[in-house]
Amino acid sequence: MKPPERAARARMLMNEAGNAPPLANRGAISAVRGSVVDVRFDERLPPIYSVLRAGDEGRIVIEVLAQSDAHHVRGIALTPTQGLARGMVVEDTGGPLKAPVGKGIRSRMFDVFGNTIDRGAALSDVEWRSVHRAPPPLSRRSTKSEIFETGIKVIDVLVPLERGGKAGLFGGAGVGKTVLLTEMIHNMIGHQEGVSIFCGIGERCREGEELYREMKEAGVLPNMVMLFGQMNEPPGSRFRVGHAALTMAEYFRDDEHRDVLLLIDNIFRFIQAGSEVSGLMGQMPSRLGYQPTMGTELSGLEERIANTDTGAITSIQAVYVPADDFTDPAAVHTFSHLSASIVLSRKRSSEGLFPAIDPLQSNSRMATPGIVGERHYHLAQEIRRTLAQYAELKDIIAMLGLEQLSPEDRNVVARARRLERFLTQPFFTTEQFTGHSGKLVSLKDSLDGCERILRDEFKDYPERALYMFGTIDEARGKSKPGEPAPKSKTEVGKDPKPAAESPTEAAVEPHPKPGAPPEREAAHAGAAHES
Ligand SMILES: Nc1ncnc2c1ncn2[C@@H]1O[C@H](COP(=O)(O)OP(=O)(O)O)[C@@H](O)[C@H]1O
Ligand SMILES: [Mg+2]
Repeated sequence: MKPPERAARARMLMNEAGNAPPLANRGAISAVRGSVVDVRFDERLPPIYSVLRAGDEGRIVIEVLAQSDAHHVRGIALTPTQGLARGMVVEDTGGPLKAPVGKGIRSRMFDVFGNTIDRGAALSDVEWRSVHRAPPPLSRRSTKSEIFETGIKVIDVLVPLERGGKAGLFGGAGVGKTVLLTEMIHNMIGHQEGVSIFCGIGERCREGEELYREMKEAGVLPNMVMLFGQMNEPPGSRFRVGHAALTMAEYFRDDEHRDVLLLIDNIFRFIQAGSEVSGLMGQMPSRLGYQPTMGTELSGLEERIANTDTGAITSIQAVYVPADDFTDPAAVHTFSHLSASIVLSRKRSSEGLFPAIDPLQSNSRMATPGIVGERHYHLAQEIRRTLAQYAELKDIIAMLGLEQLSPEDRNVVARARRLERFLTQPFFTTEQFTGHSGKLVSLKDSLDGCERILRDEFKDYPERALYMFGTIDEARGKSKPGEPAPKSKTEVGKDPKPAAESPTEAAVEPHPKPGAPPEREAAHAGAAHES
């Protein structure tokens, strides 16, 4: 451990010592099995959730999870347990795990113990609160159903998020969950009065560092707090970092009366950490090897994400779906807590249609006429219908070609493909590697654009004219109807990916080059519509 970190931990110990009972309660280790530690206390048995410390400078932190008998407790280590041995002295800190809250935590990066990990100045102006807190009572919860605008077209139109609600981003690895989360932080901090908390659970360490740097460069760090318990940390730490993040979120909501955007990447890893802890503690596994207490653990965390009259905690959670199986108990339990589910599909991401949201699989509780209004509701229904018809026609197109479709069906295909492209959007956070500058689109502009595409106003424009733009007027400004889609060297050159590697580029090319075989369906669609 580096000296500044050691000093920080020592400070934290002193801090906690201040709250500890006057007589130190000491015990001795009686067994160590991986992360599970049994401790014997002869006098006072520490209550559940007490934090115990052992090793030099109390480096090894143990949280009590069970009282085995009159003299023994069983706990899980939140730090690595190397060097721990039977008979070693353990000190009861007399309190639970605590997280720092206050003005001083903004723009900082923490680990599960509340130690800063950004190599910045020492923490000042903070107070320490227990990470185990009850959800707000029903009487304090607010019942307004308000829309939370993200500035991302496909979300605002088809899967509107709820202010104070919980949205899940479901998908396998590498489909863009983290990118989408990062973009939402960017959009909310830049354009609304709010604080964002990013909680990394069990994901790659590199991502934490990258995010910190990106946020610093984007200048949004002052309204942000980051917490990480990444995949290299012991299960106990990954299991508790979400609670620490919620404690901070509750502080901003209840004490500063501000809206909070809580981003969790990835909630599946919380469930996974819970199952590791449960296995280590010797509990019998339940369905598919998950812990029997999964439902309770997840709701303990999710129920704390709530609106009150003082502020709202809006949460967006990435959910890794193991083996793309949506009936997996972890995914099923998570679904039941969410007010919106956004499903990211690998097919779309491979076609370059970013954000790779599959509108037909995604849904939101807010998409009802009473909340979004009649016009928005009917437009969204119409878009879904068009996309669903196109999805059904895909098989026929693949087998028989587009020419075999009736003129109406061909119109549906044209509209659907233009809608799909209009619903792509360049992100601010991906500017560096896509070369497209980011766009924020208001709900009104998004709805107008979709409405005009559905009225066939863009029938004569090449599909590419609508790809990766903001509002529909921007797209219109760039290319004129009837003109062949730009396929000049400069256009291709600007794109970081060569055209042949990007199926979308090939798909929207008016006359596919003979050498490069694009998808059959796309080639037909392109040939029929662009010439
Ligand atoms: N909106 C986007 N625009 C451009 N590229 C994207 C976008 N979303 C994802 N990608 C690409 O996909 C990769 C993986 O995204 P990431 O968010 O890390 O996936 P996940 O978190 O789902 O594992 C990114 O590095 C990027 O190359
Ligand atoms: Mg990710």
